[in-house]
Amino acid sequence: MERKVYWIEGDGIGPEIWSVAKPVIDATLRKAYHDEHSIEWHELLAGDKAVAQTGVPLPDATIEALSLADVAIKGPLGTPVGGGMRSLNVAIRQKFDLYACIRPIVWFRGVISPMRKPENVDMIIFRENTEDVYAGIEFKAESAEAVKLINFMNNELGTTITENCAIGIKPMTEFGSKRLVRAAIEHAIKHTLPSVTLVHKGNIMKFTEGAFLAWGYEVAQEFGDAVVTEKEVKKGASSVGKVIIKDRIADAMFQEALLHPKDYSVIATPNLNGDYLSDALAAQVGGLGIAPGVNMSDRFAFFEATHGTAPLAAGKDIANPCSLLLSAAMMLDYMEFPKAGTALRDAIISLINKKTVTPDLAAEMENATSVSCSEFGRLLIKELAS
Ligand code: NAI
Repeated sequence: MERKVYWIEGDGIGPEIWSVAKPVIDATLRKAYHDEHSIEWHELLAGDKAVAQTGVPLPDATIEALSLADVAIKGPLGTPVGGGMRSLNVAIRQKFDLYACIRPIVWFRGVISPMRKPENVDMIIFRENTEDVYAGIEFKAESAEAVKLINFMNNELGTTITENCAIGIKPMTEFGSKRLVRAAIEHAIKHTLPSVTLVHKGNIMKFTEGAFLAWGYEVAQEFGDAVVTEKEVKKGASSVGKVIIKDRIADAMFQEALLHPKDYSVIATPNLNGDYLSDALAAQVGGLGIAPGVNMSDRFAFFEATHGTAPLAAGKDIANPCSLLLSAAMMLDYMEFPKAGTALRDAIISLINKKTVTPDLAAEMENATSVSCSEFGRLLIKELAS
């Protein structure tokens, strides 16, 4: 079977990591399925390459193709400076309603981690991707909009906001919160994972984050006997064969992830908490250079390298392609080519175990062999052939 996959090269180190990733992904499919399955690659323009060729960072042709796509994968995109767009990544997530940002966090033996027992870290974050303060509704201090809004709130709603405040709005809906938590619970059930933890700041933001928590528990009820709450378990209910639904306040969750990572599996959380937690947890297992991720709607999965464009590393053939490659492994699983996903992960893990890594990881490991980005790709293809 030939499956169509759209790809966006990305800016900065994007071209370098892509020139490694594409042949490696093709070699992985050949290894796992011989010629039975392959990818028909279609490049789409976005970012610097799009500006150079079309004058705009997100051309209509790219938007049209993505609106019909079911799978795509991208390198990092820089935030256009002085452009009309706040962030290309945020714009893409909102345009295609990619409501769940999913990031698995697991440790690969050999990678230096700040944890005493990094092998205990095995989590997957489901971050709501379209709402919360990321909706981008904010007004500059003393702007006409901010002054108007502040006057309305002070006069009509009884608030006492200082006139020269900057103002941001945090919209969170029942629909948006519930579909995210539903996706997290479905994932836990499908993969027989032990728990889903709702991470929120509802003790302070009662009607936004607090509502996320309440809606999360309401959704859990849809799953009947397949789930049980932590409170019920504490009162003696059995959790055998069930997903335990827990909740933690966001600040406490950062501490928990460091002290008791074994107690956590799937995490479901609003946008801003999820942004912080994803990077913090990635650091626990070796950093963003090797963290994979996907932004998803019910129709469309858009896999991505989770790091940025690393402008200082660009053009030097030193970037680590593992984040993009591990996202590609997730993509192969999602496309129901699981043998290929596993083969790609195994080849990466094998090179890391041999301490043959790109300079970012080599700098942290004892007695490592530091290889360029392109050499790492060549070695991966050899690894896949062995
Ligand atoms: P960054 O992730 O590009 O860089 C942070 C640090 O990590 C730098 O020291 C960089 O050299 C290093 N690094 C990142 N990826 C690496 C890799 N694959 N191999 C080796 N080292 C790597 O974050 P920064 O500097 O904050 O952002 C640069 C640009 O990227 C900005 O325009 C930002 O908006 C954009 N960005 C895009 C993202 C995306 O497309 N998903 C995510 C984060 C940032």
